[in-house]
Amino acid sequence: MRESENETYSLISRLNAWFLNRGTHTYNKLTHRFKKELFSGLSGSVLEIGAGTGANFDYYPENLDLWMLEPSPYMRDYLHEKAVEVEQDVHIISGYAEEIPCQDNKFDAVVTTLVLCTVNDVEQSLSEIYRVLKPGGVFHFIEHVAASEQSWLRTLQNGITPFWKIMADGCHPNRETGEWIRKSGFMDIKLERINVSIPVVSPHIIGSAFKPE
Ligand SMILES: C[S@@+](CC[C@H](N)C(=O)[O-])C[C@H]1O[C@@H](n2cnc3c(N)ncnc32)[C@H](O)[C@@H]1O
Repeated sequence: MRESENETYSLISRLNAWFLNRGTHTYNKLTHRFKKELFSGLSGSVLEIGAGTGANFDYYPENLDLWMLEPSPYMRDYLHEKAVEVEQDVHIISGYAEEIPCQDNKFDAVVTTLVLCTVNDVEQSLSEIYRVLKPGGVFHFIEHVAASEQSWLRTLQNGITPFWKIMADGCHPNRETGEWIRKSGFMDIKLERINVSIPVVSPHIIGSAFKPE
């Protein structure tokens, strides 16, 4: 990559961190009920992947051994700030979902919110999530996904994806993430489709999947 391209990407990443940080409050209001329910049962050691600017700090119960993995240094700056603000003990680590820098069978739970739309390789990321979960551990997710195939919204999502990917730091509005989760080796998959009142990426899935004992 040329130096000027590098600078453009870095500017976009910086702007995305800023926008995400500003938009989190509104998004959390829209999804509050779902996040509250999803996070309330967490205990033990928990890894959040692609933790961004710390959108989920308010939802974690106390006394967790909490880890957050985040590749972007701009996002991690916000994460560190927010961890201090909410007085949360957390291990913030740098890395990618496709190669989680943690040992096998380490976590009781792994969480992603709005991350599998952005990773480079969904299959590899899910395989890594599976690897770092303890047997019997649970993967919780809230992800925006592709609209149903014949819908006008899906046509819009397909058309806008090449531009959106660049402006939203790798995010794909038209990913069939639920299908990837279904074929990734987890069991007892609970997956609900919901609509969140935001443009283009309103269709979401929310749910849990277990690693067999
Ligand atoms: C739309 S943001 C969501 C952030 C946060 N989870 C939230 O709910 O606000 C997507 C996040 O995924 C991170 N990300 C992008 N590619 C990633 C990868 N390959 N592995 C892990 N995280 C990644 C981005 O840096 C960003 O923080």
